[in-house]
Amino acid sequence: MNAAPTSAVTVSTPHGRYDIQIDGALLSSPAAWAGLPRAAQAVIVTNPTVDVLYGPALEQALAPHYGQVSRVRLPDGEQYKNWTSLELVFDHLLARGCDRQTVLFALGGGVVGDMAGFAAATFMRGVPFVQVPTTLLAQVDSSVGGKTAINHPLGKNMIGAFYQPERVVCDLDTLDTLPERELAAGLAEIIKYGPIADMAFFDWIEAHLPALRRRDRAALAHAVRRACEIKAEVVGQDEREHGLRAILNFGHTFGHAIETGLGYGQWLHGEAVACGMVLAAALSAELGLVSADFTQRLTRLIESAGLPVVAPAMDGARWLELMRVDKKAQGGEIRFIVLEAPGRAALRTAPDATVLRVISRHGARA
Ligand code: NAD
Ligand code: GLY
Repeated sequence: MNAAPTSAVTVSTPHGRYDIQIDGALLSSPAAWAGLPRAAQAVIVTNPTVDVLYGPALEQALAPHYGQVSRVRLPDGEQYKNWTSLELVFDHLLARGCDRQTVLFALGGGVVGDMAGFAAATFMRGVPFVQVPTTLLAQVDSSVGGKTAINHPLGKNMIGAFYQPERVVCDLDTLDTLPERELAAGLAEIIKYGPIADMAFFDWIEAHLPALRRRDRAALAHAVRRACEIKAEVVGQDEREHGLRAILNFGHTFGHAIETGLGYGQWLHGEAVACGMVLAAALSAELGLVSADFTQRLTRLIESAGLPVVAPAMDGARWLELMRVDKKAQGGEIRFIVLEAPGRAALRTAPDATVLRVISRHGARA
């Protein structure tokens, strides 16, 4: 019998208290699956790319605990994070006679996690689910905190629910097969935690970026753990985003506009957030909140992580139209997460002219 996972972070919210297990070899560790709700059926929601790599191992690990374990594969890609894919999950669950006790396992990146979570929140008004994130981005962000959603052609993550998992199992071994570009996308969400909450962590990321990029296990384990600790702390204080939780959206108002504007899947979510953080930091400097030096420091780190720092060419009116669909907007007014100081973030409005000036300074020519 394997030892208990060496590292766990607890998330505690009014709607659920659960552990994020962080270690290598967790897929095959009995401890990772001990103590979960048991049922006649478990369903693994995944995609063909991840299924080939890890589907059989997870199915084998779950087999002793459930009467039947099946897998449903959704098409791979942000452009498929929609109703049509969600229906595939419901089709599978109903065709197999799944009931309210059935446990869903989200095996994959944030796209699979967000969709499996939304399916779990809504199937028979809610069934238990477990997040098994296999991308760096999903391990440090999307699998934690219970935000689930699908995209709409007019806006990112527009239809969804807050629904907490039973557990998050981050097997660091799965990061070995992640393509370079996806690893960098995950680094974007790790970097995010520095300027919004923890400048000591930001200093650490700057010092350890080469190690993170070459997938040094100790560096990755520390980054995943610290990111999860910060996210758990924020979500524990504000599960449903009445205030504080919005800071986790640093860079996302610009980033979501990039993703929707260019078409889902053109830029990866982490890439769009990376560039969005450059714009949000520049906006903070423009509003007199942080120094231009800090914006440059953040930009250098993002660029060194292999991420884009120049915004794509889009018409100014289009930028504003896209950002008005953001979930933080109120009464048609766009609200941004800005830095009040390095390590401290807040929600603010900004004049359209100021926002467009920042975009044009940091953007490609239309
Ligand atoms: P993704 O889910 O599309 O995964 C990226 C790619 O990596 C996919 O092609 C996938 O098949 C592949 N992949 C996954 N694991 C792999 C592995 N171990 N080895 C090889 N290939 C692997 O993208 P993502 O970056 O993980 O997630 C982005 C999504 O997460 C976006 O839709 C975003 O909106 C969402 N998100 C949600 C939250 C939240 O709080 N719910 C937070 C951040 C992001
Ligand atoms: N990724 C933003 C949030 O979880 O709130």
